[in-house]
Amino acid sequence: MYKVRFLTIVAALAVVLCQFVLLFASAIAPEALAGGGWLPKVLWTITCLAGAHLVNRAIDVLIWDRLVAKALGGTVPAILKTMVAVVVYLVTMSMVVGLVYEQNVAAFLTALGAGGVVLGLAVRGIFSDLFTGLAVNLDGNVVIDDWIQLSPRSAQARPLLGRVREIGWRSTQLETEDGTLLIIPNTVLAEDLVTNFTRPTASTRYECTIDLDPSVPCDRAKRILLGAVRSLVISRGFVADKEPAVLVSSTSEIGIQYLIRFWIQPWNPLSPTTACDAVLSRAIQHLTVAGLAPARGKTEIFYDRIATPRMDDTTAEGRSQLLQGVQLFTSLEEEDRLLLAAELKRLVLPAKETVVAQGDNGDTLYIIAEGALDVLVKTEQAPEPVRVATLGAGDFFGEMSLLTGEPRRATVQAATPTVIYELSRDTVAELIERRPDVADVLSRAVAERRVGLDAAHRNAGHAAKEAAVATLSGQVSRLVRDFFSRRIRSSFPVPS
Ligand code: CMP
Repeated sequence: MYKVRFLTIVAALAVVLCQFVLLFASAIAPEALAGGGWLPKVLWTITCLAGAHLVNRAIDVLIWDRLVAKALGGTVPAILKTMVAVVVYLVTMSMVVGLVYEQNVAAFLTALGAGGVVLGLAVRGIFSDLFTGLAVNLDGNVVIDDWIQLSPRSAQARPLLGRVREIGWRSTQLETEDGTLLIIPNTVLAEDLVTNFTRPTASTRYECTIDLDPSVPCDRAKRILLGAVRSLVISRGFVADKEPAVLVSSTSEIGIQYLIRFWIQPWNPLSPTTACDAVLSRAIQHLTVAGLAPARGKTEIFYDRIATPRMDDTTAEGRSQLLQGVQLFTSLEEEDRLLLAAELKRLVLPAKETVVAQGDNGDTLYIIAEGALDVLVKTEQAPEPVRVATLGAGDFFGEMSLLTGEPRRATVQAATPTVIYELSRDTVAELIERRPDVADVLSRAVAERRVGLDAAHRNAGHAAKEAAVATLSGQVSRLVRDFFSRRIRSSFPVPS
């Protein structure tokens, strides 16, 4: 605005100043103006162009902003003002060419036209925008302050919705509901499908849907929903003189879908979304008063991963499950396993921890839940303990001392971090009393393991014998070499 005022003042000053100089010069030194000198031509050119600017300003203020704006009931599109201003300047320049410079106006206009064609080809996109803008202005389907929606032809692009703020010579400005400004090239406006919500009247019908249970009779449902939407029509933004309606729209497994139709003046002040919110909220309120609610799906489907087997050994059931996996107890009934589970003592051991030591007294049986344990035997022949077996999850140990009362026959040491369960002799005795077949499994294990232990002892003896022979043969071999080397040296003395 300040820029426009400044330019107007400058133009007015330029006219006054140029005319004053011309007047002064013609009075003081008329010969300076005679003979078609350059000074009067420049002064007249400035006067004419500044005058054209003042004329345009006058047209703006008096015609566009007062008469036309009043007639249209809004703002005059900038493109009309620009076009008229261009015509005024064109006429002025033709006058300057013809009258001041005494040149052929037709030739000037032809040259201008030729230049225009070249320029037009170079910037045809701009010209396309320009003429589309003109067309939009002239046909009057979209004017400033209209609410429009542009639906791009491509299915992927989302529709653009907003109020027309300006239709310029290149683009149209839309103010969206979010308060942002969209600058849309006029050619886009011409190509897209435009929905004008403000025409032919400001009122527009919208609709929203709600599902109700099929057990609610349609008459009742319509009565309640119509009452709800009808109670809203006097609210601001709704159109009071247009009746809302409720229709059955479809049926589905959820229920019966009702279509609620209502009239609003979009964005004045309600947006369709806000209006829908108001209608549905009121509908739910009325349904609640009637003891009803929107329908819900009757089928509930839960998606879950297929349960992975997981044992919780802190519970009796979990421990019973653990015992089921131990070969010793596979023959037991669930009831026996549960009784046994209650007696289990849980031990968590780090690697290298010794559970039972060879030679110690013991009256407990162990069941391995997690990890691995080495069975080590010390023999008289071998200085280091020999590993005779490695036991894992589901195995048991300690049965030898438990059953025979003899000291532990081997050392059992955790090879990895381990979880084991301890059973007392009394518990095992009670179990054997109830289920004698357990004693058979234990006895068989004792027998098999003893054989294993004896073999280890024998192997250790054999290995010890082998080691003793190897040591002795080494010593003999050294003696023999010494002896023969001495004999050879005495037979063939080395010369000194
Ligand atoms: P016990 O003698 O009470 O303590 C050491 C345990 O090591 C022993 O019971 C058996 O349970 C176990 N054991 C001994 N020898 C073997 C073997 N050869 N194989 C597996 N386990 C054994």
